[in-house]
Amino acid sequence: MLYIGYSSLGSAQDESSYSRPMKRRSLEAAARDAKQSKISGFFAASAKTSQPSKPSDPKDEAAESSSTTVKSTVQSTALAQNASSAVALRNGVALPVLGFGTYRLGRQAQGIVAEALKAGYRLIDTAQVYDQGSIESAVGAALRHSGLPRSSVFISTKVWRSSHGFEKTLQACQQSLKRLEVDYIDLYLVHWPGPQPSNSKAWSPQTRQETWRAMEKLLRDGKVKAIGVCNHSIRHLKDLLKSCEIQPMVNQVEFHPLLVQSELLDYCVGEGIAVQAFASLGSGDSRRARDFFALPAVQLAARAHGAQPAAVLLRWATQKGCHVIPKSSQPLRMKQNAELFNITLSEQEMQAIDACHTNARLTWGGVDPDTIE
Ligand SMILES: NC(=O)c1ccc[n+]([C@@H]2O[C@H](COP(=O)([O-])OP(=O)(O)OC[C@H]3O[C@@H](n4cnc5c(N)ncnc54)[C@H](OP(=O)(O)O)[C@@H]3O)[C@@H](O)[C@H]2O)c1
Repeated sequence: MLYIGYSSLGSAQDESSYSRPMKRRSLEAAARDAKQSKISGFFAASAKTSQPSKPSDPKDEAAESSSTTVKSTVQSTALAQNASSAVALRNGVALPVLGFGTYRLGRQAQGIVAEALKAGYRLIDTAQVYDQGSIESAVGAALRHSGLPRSSVFISTKVWRSSHGFEKTLQACQQSLKRLEVDYIDLYLVHWPGPQPSNSKAWSPQTRQETWRAMEKLLRDGKVKAIGVCNHSIRHLKDLLKSCEIQPMVNQVEFHPLLVQSELLDYCVGEGIAVQAFASLGSGDSRRARDFFALPAVQLAARAHGAQPAAVLLRWATQKGCHVIPKSSQPLRMKQNAELFNITLSEQEMQAIDACHTNARLTWGGVDPDTIE
């Protein structure tokens, strides 16, 4: 079994920097430095088959083991060099920087995921709710037919808001495992901080805590290798950190040039919570990819680097410190999106894209999750 985490990267590095990822400003600087000095050694160190050191937080003990195999771990998303690059979560599980989104893949989902695996994507992000579970089944089938070892593909899925609560979350996970036909899920996420609107009478923030207790149990039982949340605001996270035994390792949120959630990103980085951006290309819901690509700051950077606007948008997000999970049903676009690693944006280009922020929410009907009790 391969262990990738704090200890596998050798002793030359200050260990504390793994439990506390680099601050946002230095991530951008680090990307430039890496490019300039062509770092391919330490930061791109190949994963070793070493035993993990004791996790920094005893609460993470249950989550210690990871069977996920990736080719290289880097210290931050800004230093990722290819689709195999991953950053160690607080329990040592290696989270690939680039993943593949599966929202709205439809009936062709299995074939499309198979193409994404062929194109080199090694994280597939799905959810209980996508096409009522049929996308999870398609992901599982694509994985089995790919011939790739289970340990080389990182599967992430989410418990839907109709399944909040301790027992329901456990059941939802069991069903996801069954549909995916896998023994474990690499990353299990709470999809939304609140209930299904039809269940809202029975809802209290206490229910969210019960959901999280189930997440912790799933981790301890080895059904999932890492746990996290989606769409959680700073307030939700602070509440969770007060009551949890095991901290969330990931917060998957809408994050793009029109919604630069800097405060949330800083908070997550400070707490050792990885931020995974969704809707980086304009979201499948709003179909705004063309608008995003037409942003003058994006166009300018694309021309300067001879890159596709999609690659610029994804590179911008990773240089900010986010993991990314773009979705495309087209093999050519999958390839274009993975070309984010060929470029490094300058400080000026980063700032110009930051300045596009208008606080526009394109997903979840524009609802700010912070309005959820
Ligand atoms: N946790 C949550 O609440 C949440 C919410 C939303 C999404 N997600 C996850 O995040 C993933 C990504 O978000 P998303 O799918 O909404 O949006 P996205 O990745 O921003 O993709 C938006 C659209 O861009 C198009 N596209 C992709 N690459 C392109 C390229 N190179 N050139 C032109 N167009 C391109 C795609 O259309 P084509 O397919 O036609 O190429 C897609 O419909 C989802 O699939 C899902 O896994 C999570």
